[in-house]
Amino acid sequence: MQISPSMLAADFARLADDAALVADTADWLHIDVMDGHFVPNLTIGLPVVAALLKHVAVPLDCHLMISDPDRWARDYATAGARNVTIHAEAASAPVRTLRAIKSAGARAGLAVNPGTAVEPYADLLPEIDMLLVMTVEPGFGGQPFLDLVLPKLRRARQLIARHGGEVWLQVDGGVSEETIERCAEAGADVFVAGTAVFGSQDPGAAVERLRAAAIASGRRCGGGPAS
Ligand code: DX5
Ligand code: ZN
Repeated sequence: MQISPSMLAADFARLADDAALVADTADWLHIDVMDGHFVPNLTIGLPVVAALLKHVAVPLDCHLMISDPDRWARDYATAGARNVTIHAEAASAPVRTLRAIKSAGARAGLAVNPGTAVEPYADLLPEIDMLLVMTVEPGFGGQPFLDLVLPKLRRARQLIARHGGEVWLQVDGGVSEETIERCAEAGADVFVAGTAVFGSQDPGAAVERLRAAAIASGRRCGGGPAS
């Protein structure tokens, strides 16, 4: 069970300082790259990610919400991001792009929006290290968790089990101490949380509470790996 705090909910003028608040407890730092085209919001891009890499020890989990991931994904991996996730809805050549991410030394992720089915992407499982099932429409932090995605999350876990490989299943959007248990029960094992971490008084402790809730719930239901 891994927690990836989203820097979207941090103070953009103090990114490295806020990253340090979760340095001892987070498994990843989730970086939301938005281009104002694929999603109606604009955040940060490659230069800021490259700058941040010099100041943080926690591996970066870059979530590219951009229209042309085929053009940009490899550059994030080359810069030093440990994981690069592209959206199925945006990629024109996902196989080529996922392979480019891996050959540049990063883990490769594939994301699907709430309204996108996972079944059409089952054949891509051998190409990916992580499947991201969005639990809000991408673009903004602080949105309510979409329970309607949970059946798809279960189906995604089954597809991964059938595939048999080591593919992590990530959820992103509205993940909190209240909703994380449902995600873990449905089979998620990597949890992105922005508001629930950086909106809390003690972000480092919030990460630990989220992980504890996920582990407890995963053990109860035999959903994801309980470690
Ligand atoms: C939304 C982003 C999320 C966002 C989650 O498009 O992909 O990573 O930061 O924020 P919370 O946890 O506040 O829903
Ligand atoms: Zn994200």
